[in-house]
Amino acid sequence: MKYRLLLILHLIDLISCGVIPNTSKKRFPDAIIVGVKKSGTRALLEFLRVNPLIKAPGPEVHFFDKNFNKGLEWYREQMPETKFGEVTIEKSPAYFHSKMAPERIKSLNPNTKIIIVVRDPVTRAISDYTQSSSKRKRVGLMPSFETMAVGNCANWLRTNCTTKTRGVNAGWGAIRIGVYHKHMKRWLDHFPIENIHIVDGEKLISNPADEISATEKFLGLKPVAKPEKFGVDPIKKFPCIKNEDGKLHCLGKTKGRHHPDVEPSVLKTLREFYGPENKKFYQMINHWFDW
Ligand code: A3P
Repeated sequence: MKYRLLLILHLIDLISCGVIPNTSKKRFPDAIIVGVKKSGTRALLEFLRVNPLIKAPGPEVHFFDKNFNKGLEWYREQMPETKFGEVTIEKSPAYFHSKMAPERIKSLNPNTKIIIVVRDPVTRAISDYTQSSSKRKRVGLMPSFETMAVGNCANWLRTNCTTKTRGVNAGWGAIRIGVYHKHMKRWLDHFPIENIHIVDGEKLISNPADEISATEKFLGLKPVAKPEKFGVDPIKKFPCIKNEDGKLHCLGKTKGRHHPDVEPSVLKTLREFYGPENKKFYQMINHWFDW
């Protein structure tokens, strides 16, 4: 270990003296934001990219779930060019609930750092529903969130909407993804907990600098995130990056959407459904949230 460190320091010396040219090349990612969808994964990546040592492809790559048959060289090609000392990250939030992704990532590189953003699964489900209904451009046609979550969703889901789990259509993807411990178990079966960093999606909104600097440290970088580098979108009330000239750079219109008001009785049913599932998740990661 000591010799490895000395070798790395020596390499840095050689590169900074120009003996070894520090050329850019495409590399497999050092870290992957694997999810959870609708928990703030885009905000996390955009805020991390303020650090000049963090490089990431723009679009989601979806290699370990949808594009695996395209092969490893295709995957490498999607990555940005990085120099020695820089960190390559990709984010594909559907990896979190993909059955194959943990095993495939491990077989490519068992030292890959895994980053997971989580938020209250009830809020996450409403966000997921809001996105699906707007994507299908069937707002007004798609049943209400309440119908999908606890009602008769028969024509909308392949799952049986008459068999409920504690009153909830637990087979609906928007609900199922939020049963975090079931998916988390697969990650912990393949990666040690020290290689997994959990980001609190609610704190990423209320205190982005803290969540970002904790993630920078996890990536082995000196944090550059500071509270003064963030501002708040006056309309959406979500955090944005404050540029040098003071102008705000906020996420696009598909992030920070208006959510429908959900009937309190349905929220209560969902909270009761998620309560025991959340506890299992907290125990698994040894970290408590107040959902
Ligand atoms: P909504 O658009 O439903 O509010 P993801 O990037 O994983 O798809 O997550 C999207 C969610 O991130 C948004 O869902 C929003 O609640 C949350 N979010 C967190 N930080 C944000 C930010 N700075 N700007 C916009 N949305 C943010």
